[in-house]
Amino acid sequence: MKFLELAEKRFSVRKFKNQPIEKEVLNSILEANRFAPSAMNLQSQKIFVAQSEEALNVVKRFTISHYDAPCILIVGYDKELITPDTEDYLLITDPAIALTHIMLQATEMGVGSVWVRSCDFDGLLYELKLPSTFVPMALMPLGYPSDDYVPSEKHFARKALDEIVTYL
Ligand SMILES: Cc1cc2nc3c(=O)[nH]c(=O)nc-3n(C[C@H](O)[C@H](O)[C@H](O)COP(=O)(O)O)c2cc1C
Repeated sequence: MKFLELAEKRFSVRKFKNQPIEKEVLNSILEANRFAPSAMNLQSQKIFVAQSEEALNVVKRFTISHYDAPCILIVGYDKELITPDTEDYLLITDPAIALTHIMLQATEMGVGSVWVRSCDFDGLLYELKLPSTFVPMALMPLGYPSDDYVPSEKHFARKALDEIVTYL
């Protein structure tokens, strides 16, 4: 698939089949994040994968936007890497780019995804005993889209190029 076609094909999926993602498929989706650019090449992103019933049940207690996905990524960055040169506003960009790679690779593999910010991250981190140096920025439910799922109306509300781009 050509890149523009892939980018157009992606949409947020909020209803999933009750079907696990195969290990190789998930690996290739995660692998895509390694090639993302990052501030000073620090690759500060950290990804925790909730796939066991136990872990998924914990995540579900802290967000309504889990959409019953069979796999949920908890994505953020490692604040141990913050130095006077690398403030956290730089590092927060790393997981965002990594997640974008993940969404697009997932799309290519036929796996649906949605970026989720609405979550009680403090509660979630505490309950899962995640490292205190981990700064969360998003959840990403992943799974095969339900057969009857269609993109939301918002997906189609795209600004025209000239509303976004100004040639100087
Ligand atoms: C930073 C960010 C935060 C988002 N938070 C949520 C969220 O908490 N819950 C949700 O269902 N979707 C969330 N979304 C998905 C957006 O609603 C969605 O990307 C947007 O409406 C465009 O639709 P599309 O992804 O189908 O093209 C978020 C997206 C981004 C980039």
